[in-house]
Amino acid sequence: MKRKVLITGAAGFIGSKLAEHLTELGFEVVGCDIYNFRNQFFDVGDTHHLTLQRLRFDRIAHFLNRNGIEYHSVDISDHSQVSKLFQKAHPDVVVHLAAQAGVRHSVKAPMDFVKSNLNGFANVIDACKTHGIQQFLYASSSSVYGVRSEAPFRETDRCDAPESFYAATKIANEQMAKAYFAQYRTASLGLRFFTVYGPWGRLDMAPFLFAKKMRSQQAIQLFGEGVLKRDFTYIGDTVFAIARLIQNGISQTQADVVNIGHSNPVQVNDFVQTLADCMNIKPTIELLPMQVSDVPLTCASDDKLRKMIGEWPHTSLSDGLSEMVQWLEKWNPV
Ligand SMILES: NC(=O)c1ccc[n+]([C@@H]2O[C@H](COP(=O)([O-])OP(=O)(O)OC[C@H]3O[C@@H](n4cnc5c(N)ncnc54)[C@H](O)[C@@H]3O)[C@@H](O)[C@H]2O)c1
Repeated sequence: MKRKVLITGAAGFIGSKLAEHLTELGFEVVGCDIYNFRNQFFDVGDTHHLTLQRLRFDRIAHFLNRNGIEYHSVDISDHSQVSKLFQKAHPDVVVHLAAQAGVRHSVKAPMDFVKSNLNGFANVIDACKTHGIQQFLYASSSSVYGVRSEAPFRETDRCDAPESFYAATKIANEQMAKAYFAQYRTASLGLRFFTVYGPWGRLDMAPFLFAKKMRSQQAIQLFGEGVLKRDFTYIGDTVFAIARLIQNGISQTQADVVNIGHSNPVQVNDFVQTLADCMNIKPTIELLPMQVSDVPLTCASDDKLRKMIGEWPHTSLSDGLSEMVQWLEKWNPV
């Protein structure tokens, strides 16, 4: 019988692509997200808000509907909605990705993060306990590492000095998962993602923002004078790693965490140049100081991940960005 995977945040960047990938591998997939096909959305305002709705709608059409994946509109911060979803779906595996994402937004509006990232996480892990889910994987983040100069970042490093409220919610999730293991033996695996990019990516993240500015010939503002370094991870590599972790099965003896990143940080200056080359554009750059909540470096050790899944693909930045640019030209031609 096919194993059934429930993905929360399935209208999101990672969730939608993962839904398609798991279906191709022969899993039965059920997706949920707060997105409800009506003009109700809570996170950001103005035209960005409308584009975001179109992106979520289009991801559902492209990745879920086309592959016959069942979709439920559910607010994970509502305990009864989550309970009903689990009763209906009966999943074997849960990949919990739904969250308010975005470090910088958490500086402006920390309260937006409480509902989805804290209440929502508690509701989902509690449903996993109630339904005896043995495979519970959830999104954590490289931001749990905070500011550090020693690289690469290892899962054994201390993570108790968040630079943003977003990071604090992800550290809290990892601690909640540990408590659920201690109290109820609910095993889990936290996935510490490192700046995922690629086609169908997030509108609030640097690759999309930079590409948009370059197209309209506006200056790109590079905080931290452009010398911040990020370990960028291509979306295809990311979903490959998640799927392999599911196929291999997570440890039942702990609440574990693992980095999903390549140990190959790139300076944001160089990232912009590679993107400009893919777009055949000469960028105008404005260098600005570091912002509150920014960290100078992210760099994952992938030793633990490789022990768990073996070798995993490493798409080059230029290949990954060309894929992203090709998608963007089709999806948002203006
Ligand atoms: N993309 C990255 O580089 C990155 C890096 C580190 C961590 N993460 C984490 O990975 C996960 C997925 O990230 P993403 O880039 O796909 O983000 P995304 O914003 O594209 O997807 C998250 C989805 O969660 C949904 N959501 C938010 N609140 C909800 C609620 N209350 N109920 C139901 N759905 C809700 C949103 O509608 C959205 O579709 C998030 O938890 C994020 O914090 C992502």
